[in-house]
Amino acid sequence: GTDGCERLRKQRLLVVANRLPVSAVRKGEDSWQLEISVGGLVSALLGVKEFDARWIGWAGVNVPDETGQKTLTIALAEKRCIPVFLDEDTVHQYYNGYCNNMLWPAFHYLGLPQEDRLATTRGFQSQFDAYKKANQMFANVVSKHYEEGDVVWCHDYHLMFLPKFLKEYNSNMKVGWFLHTPFPSSEIHRMLPSRSELLRSVLAADLVGFHTYDYARHFVSACRRILGLEGTPEGVEDQGKLTRVAAFPIGIDSDRFIRALELPQVQDHMKELKERFAGRKVMLGVDRLDMIKGIPQKILAFEEFLEENPEWRDKVVLLQIAVPTRTDVPEYQKLTSQVHEIVGRINGRFGTLTAVPIHHLDRSLDFHALCALYAVTDVALVTSLRDGMNLVSYEFVACQASKKGVLILSEFAGAAQSLGAGAILVNPWNITEVAYSIGYALNMSADEREKRHNHNFRHVTTHTSQEWAATFVSELNDTIVQAQLRTRQ
Ligand code: G6P
Repeated sequence: GTDGCERLRKQRLLVVANRLPVSAVRKGEDSWQLEISVGGLVSALLGVKEFDARWIGWAGVNVPDETGQKTLTIALAEKRCIPVFLDEDTVHQYYNGYCNNMLWPAFHYLGLPQEDRLATTRGFQSQFDAYKKANQMFANVVSKHYEEGDVVWCHDYHLMFLPKFLKEYNSNMKVGWFLHTPFPSSEIHRMLPSRSELLRSVLAADLVGFHTYDYARHFVSACRRILGLEGTPEGVEDQGKLTRVAAFPIGIDSDRFIRALELPQVQDHMKELKERFAGRKVMLGVDRLDMIKGIPQKILAFEEFLEENPEWRDKVVLLQIAVPTRTDVPEYQKLTSQVHEIVGRINGRFGTLTAVPIHHLDRSLDFHALCALYAVTDVALVTSLRDGMNLVSYEFVACQASKKGVLILSEFAGAAQSLGAGAILVNPWNITEVAYSIGYALNMSADEREKRHNHNFRHVTTHTSQEWAATFVSELNDTIVQAQLRTRQ
């Protein structure tokens, strides 16, 4: 009967994130090309299939004209995506400015930018106003598509005002908020000029989630120290209202990677790579070209390794895939030239007429090429200075069932909490330690490699993105039931 159907019907979920899982490129007046977006959030949520989910977010493109907005909306609807249109000035001040020049570096312990009122991004206050305005635009789109009973799941530092705006629109809405970056110590958070408003707006959510227990603890202590609110083991309490705060470590859709390795085109890729690098061990880095990834530090460690171990010079190669990102933010432009400079110097120093030690690519690879690369790698280097979780480490492990390569992993990545026992953990700031770990990894016995790999492989294949999403949403539903019970008492 209808009841059974009701029960079987999937839970409707509105996933709201700054960036949609597909980005649009305009090919003509009303023709669009859609490409899969990069980043941990997208790669995790792509695997989430058990909900009747719709995505709301920015398609990464400026569409000032009505025709364009209409045709793009139609094209995105096929992918179950709903666009939020942000004008150029908003993108500049909200996305480049407040999100990526202010919150992103602060949350990753890189400090606050200099207030520069003459710079094109203008002052903090005007960026903060744009941030709020953009969050209001997201809230408007959500309310237009919201149906009673929907779960609304807001993502990341771009949308810290969204829970507050959504609850103002409808206090019965089920609202969760999840942060994909670290939440820093309260000593860092309190430097933000808008520290209190940001915390209060997030607290409007029913459930607030982080990747690790430490981030959750930092958030609760920021609420206590900055807002004077009581922190309990359950969350944060404000005049009898509880906001539940907890850790939900994300994962990947590991089956998607494992299955891909069987495909003929991936096998062909692997064969090519093996021939290309025959006789040499392959070391791999895959990162967005971001300050937090510690790419210069990693390359300098590789240089120190070559310097100290001349016998390895023609027997190892480092492939560094650096995916360009946020290229309008000056700090990112500086990083690009810094990395190029270091790579050029080291290749000049240790290269021969026929081979160079570092292959550095400023671009992304398609999914199949990436899987092949992961599979043929001997040692992966994930040396983030800070990282919310870092799913590259998970993807590498998922593709290593036959090779059982070594993962060198920063202790400042959230993933260190879950893959620490199988990986070699390093302090990425300690170049000598990383250089030593490279040698250790390259010389590791097959026995030790297998033990370490098995540990991590088990983790990656059992803590998947599907499970992560299901746990968060069911906890959100429970939280709301609990709150209703409390108010009835
Ligand atoms: C990180 C953030 C995501 C973001 C991604 C890519 O993973 O947590 O929210 O989408 O980086 O960055 P971008 O600025 O290109 O969206």
